[in-house]
Amino acid sequence: MNKTCRLANSIKKVSSSFHQVSDIKTNTITKRFGRQDIDAFRSAAGVNTHTTFPVATVFGCTGFVGRYVVAALADAGYQVITPWRRNEFDIVNQRSMGDVGQVVAMRFDLKRYDSILDICARSNVVINCIGRDHKRIFDNVTVYNSNVESAEIISRACKETNVDRFIQLSLLNADKNSESEYWKQKGLAEEAALSNFDNTTIVRSANAYGTEDGFLNLIAKQIRIFPLIPLTQKGQAKVQPVFVGDVGRAVARTVLNSRTVGKTVELAGPEVFTWSQLVDTVARIIDEKPGGKVMIPEIVGQLVGYINEYTHTPGWTSDLPIRMSFDHVLPKEKPQNVMRFEDLGMTPVILEEAALEPLSRWRRKADYFMDVNYKN
Ligand SMILES: NC(=O)c1ccc[n+]([C@@H]2O[C@H](COP(=O)([O-])OP(=O)(O)OC[C@H]3O[C@@H](n4cnc5c(N)ncnc54)[C@H](OP(=O)(O)O)[C@@H]3O)[C@@H](O)[C@H]2O)c1
Repeated sequence: MNKTCRLANSIKKVSSSFHQVSDIKTNTITKRFGRQDIDAFRSAAGVNTHTTFPVATVFGCTGFVGRYVVAALADAGYQVITPWRRNEFDIVNQRSMGDVGQVVAMRFDLKRYDSILDICARSNVVINCIGRDHKRIFDNVTVYNSNVESAEIISRACKETNVDRFIQLSLLNADKNSESEYWKQKGLAEEAALSNFDNTTIVRSANAYGTEDGFLNLIAKQIRIFPLIPLTQKGQAKVQPVFVGDVGRAVARTVLNSRTVGKTVELAGPEVFTWSQLVDTVARIIDEKPGGKVMIPEIVGQLVGYINEYTHTPGWTSDLPIRMSFDHVLPKEKPQNVMRFEDLGMTPVILEEAALEPLSRWRRKADYFMDVNYKN
């Protein structure tokens, strides 16, 4: 650990024990403090903090889910560190999610362990939203690097810097024996996080949708462009989509709730659809006639996916047809160590209501969202 890191770590420990800000046993995590205490931490830790405590870091905050987690944590009064790696403009939106100085950017690189240590040493809670479901052909980052390596490195740094809690974002079907490469790597990532750090909580989410998703937007785009929508397994595999805003808030509530330590939190929306029903639902939302569907063999879908992966943001990837062939819903059984929305005091929103705004850009007949939802 370098000098800055040790200094920030010891300040965090002293500050935490003195103020009990991160005492997860007594769940005083939301306690607020006077301006003077905060200023002392600010100057000592070298972080431009605002008047809130404690500090939560969201790795992967530049991604789809990560930015909603940042918004929910800032809303809950956390000082949020937003690590970025390529372009500082990637976190410009996140800055405006809190008061001035509440959301702080720090640069990192997974290959530079000292940069991870430095960030973790300043954090009470660390959330890992880093992940990727495909390998970009012209990029040397693999699915393993983004999912397993990130979980392994960050959880190890959390242990080394005595972070209070670590939250690993995962998927409902994460399983190291899965046929899907993505689900397999997510299963391995969970294992790595749990074995490295005791105070880990796994948050397993179903397919999330929202303005920036590559899920319902992909279906809507296909409906607008193609006469036939490609599906595998006759479109009969089931999905249980969840609104990304609910995922963000659920992660913040997980952080606030000390009973979630060491548990798994499973998040899914209130409705189960088959892929075929989902295509019809999206068509209805964007006010298009539900078009035809074409059933393609997995291998054809995979080939198209491999070609797409040469592009910068492939919607349809080689792993997607495999995932479309399996149910991706909440398990029927709920073991004792599993918590869901209801245990966090939340009710997830209904897709036909929450997806109206994110999908409004695909409607031919309405230029603005107000046209579809405005009530005077
Ligand atoms: N989206 C869903 O429906 C869904 C559902 C359940 C669970 N999850 C999980 O939630 C997490 C976030 O998903 P998402 O949809 O938000 O993904 P995303 O939009 O693709 O964002 C991925 C994030 O990970 C970062 N990242 C990827 N590879 C990296 C690497 N090698 N080094 C450093 N940073 C890296 C990206 O940083 P750059 O911006 O710098 O590339 C970005 O911030 C993932 O773990 C995913 O498995 C997602």
